[in-house]
Parts: sequence; structure tokens; C-alpha cells
Amino acid sequence: MKKVAFYSLHKFEKAILENANNGRYALHFFEYRLSDETVSLSAGFEMISLFVNDDASASILEILYRQGTRFIVLRSAGYNNVDMKKARDLGIRIARVPAYSPYAVAEHAVALMMALNRKLIRANHRIRDLNFSLDGLTGFDMHGKTAGIAGTGKIGAIVARILHGFGCRLLAYDKYENTEIKEKYGVVYTDFPTLCRESDIITLHVPLTDGTKYLINEKSMALMKPHLMLINTSRGLLVNTSDVIQALKDQRVGYFGMDVYEEEEGLFFEDHSEEILQDDNIARLMSFQNVLITSHQAFLTDTALTNIADTTVYNLDCFSKNAVCENEIVIK
Ligand code: NAI
Repeated sequence: MKKVAFYSLHKFEKAILENANNGRYALHFFEYRLSDETVSLSAGFEMISLFVNDDASASILEILYRQGTRFIVLRSAGYNNVDMKKARDLGIRIARVPAYSPYAVAEHAVALMMALNRKLIRANHRIRDLNFSLDGLTGFDMHGKTAGIAGTGKIGAIVARILHGFGCRLLAYDKYENTEIKEKYGVVYTDFPTLCRESDIITLHVPLTDGTKYLINEKSMALMKPHLMLINTSRGLLVNTSDVIQALKDQRVGYFGMDVYEEEEGLFFEDHSEEILQDDNIARLMSFQNVLITSHQAFLTDTALTNIADTTVYNLDCFSKNAVCENEIVIK
């Protein structure tokens, strides 16, 4: 039986993966992230599986290759944590889970919007303290507000559909226009500066690339309406955190919902409750009443986990036969 090493294995996925595997492969689960300190754990494994914060940079891929790894199956859609050029040069084949549930992520983005807008976390804390006053809990109607969707791929298009249901005016920025959402939901495509200028809510659904890194920075925020809402469920590095903190302090950004964080590696997904927090930016973000942070959980629904597990086992099946895999990431 072929063996597979799983890095960054979370408790919530273990049983679902075992069920999808159905005895096909010998699964070796490591809770550690892949890093230069943990790479030796998978020595001798031809196939390994990684998650979003595993470090598959060039030097680590070289070690993996020397150790015998030839196939990597990602339990994620994004692959910005993998040096794809290096993998191609080494001949390591990489497959991903292109779409496990765009609904899960889109719905979480909207959950962040609504929780921030209607101050649900604050209201809940207050009521548990037997404080039933409403002062400071005023929200706004979503109906009639302008929402700017940056990236209208699988997730952004679903966000458009949901927000259309609220009665929002929808602006979008993407390299390619999605005619379906234009026709069905009245989405208007525009350039990014116009989206910044006109939106009351901006939600990010572009992938992290060299072109989108720090899309939200001092310069783009200078264009935005005062007190706008910013939501990031895509990748932390789309947002320059220091610039957003300054804008929150200046009350230019009115709400910030973040499921991802540029320094999340080693922080998110793990229990640090016994430690002293060393990251000053996240500490400052946590101090704002109008910031809501979740720990990269937008994907976390039972539907998504089942799809991730099924596709991961399917990708292992393709690779173990050295067969064509439509989920393989091929770069030129
Ligand atoms: P997708 O590939 O279907 O859509 C991405 C869209 O962004 C495409 O329409 C593309 O044309 C557009 N785009 C790419 N580069 C652009 C640029 N420079 N300027 C303008 N538009 C650009 O991807 P999908 O499935 O919608 O996912 C979006 C992102 O969501 C992923 O890349 C990933 O980073 C993030 N994600 C976050 C999860 C979470 O749990 N928080 C889970 C899954 C994905």
C-alpha cells in the first residue's frame, strides 16, 4: 500500500479524510506545518499533502525532492505557498482542489459583513453581561449600498448573487468580465480606483499574485469613502496591514473583517492561548471594536471538507498511477 504524508493535519479533517481514503493509502498525519524544521518527517514519501500555510518554497522543495517526493496534493485551491517554477524544474507534480465550496467562502464573507454591520459580537458580549442597552449598536441597511467586489471568479460571483439579494448596487473589478452576473445581478465592471471611490463595502476575492499584493494600501485607501467596510477572505497579503491599522485609527476605514492575515503562518489554525502574543499588528487589530477576525475559517463547512477530502484522494489516485490529472497545476 502506498503511503502519503499529510502536513498541517487538523483534527476537523482527519475522520473525513480517512473516510474518503477508504483504506486505499497508508495515511501518515503530522500536525506540524511543512518547514525546514519538519521537512525530514516526510523522508521517503513519494506523495505528500499540504495545506495553505505549509512552506513549499524553493529550498524546501529541493529537500523534498532529494528525500524522494515526486507528487504533492494540496488540500487547498490557492497555491501561493508553493514555488511552482521550482516544482516544475524539479519535476514534482502538484495538484490542488480547485473548488471545494465557493459557497462556504462567499457566505463567510457575507457573515463578516453582517456581523460587523449589525455589531453582533458586541451585542452578544453585552447581553451576557446583562447589559441590554442598544447604544452604540446602530447598523446600516445593506439595501441600496454599493458593494465593490474585487475578483469575480467562483467566490466573487456567489458574493454578487448574495448581495444582489440584499438589494446592493454591485461594482466589480476583474481582468475578465462575467457576463452572467452582469445580466442577472446588474453587476457593473469598472477599474479598481473607481471601485475604491464608489463602494461602501469592498470585498476581496482576487488571488494573491505579484499584481495583487497590497492591493489595499495607503494609496488605494486614500480613494475610498470615509467609514467604508473592508472584507478580506482571500489572502492576507492583499492588504497592507500597517496601512489599514493607520486608516482604522484615523476612522477612514469604518469596519474591517478579515479571515486571512499577512502574518498568519504559525499563528492561525493553532492554539496559542498559553503564550504571550508577539505580533503587535494583530494585537492592535484585536483592540478595535470595528474589526472582526476569524482564523482562516471561511472554507470550513462540512460540504467543503468532504469535497476537499474526496478531491485529494482522487488526485492521489491520478498521481499514484502517474496518470493525467485535471487538477494538476501546470505552469509554462
Ligand atoms: P477564481 O480563480 O475562481 O477567481 C479569481 C478571480 O480573480 C478571477 O476571475 C480572475 O480573473 C481574477 N483575477 C486574478 N488576478 C487578477 C488581477 N490581477 N486583477 C483583477 N482580477 C484578477 O478563484 P476563487 O475560487 O474565487 O478564489 C479566490 C481566492 O479566494 C483564492 O485565490 C484564495 O486566495 C481565496 N480563498 C480563501 C479561502 C478561505 O478559507 N479564506 C478558501 C478558498 C479560497
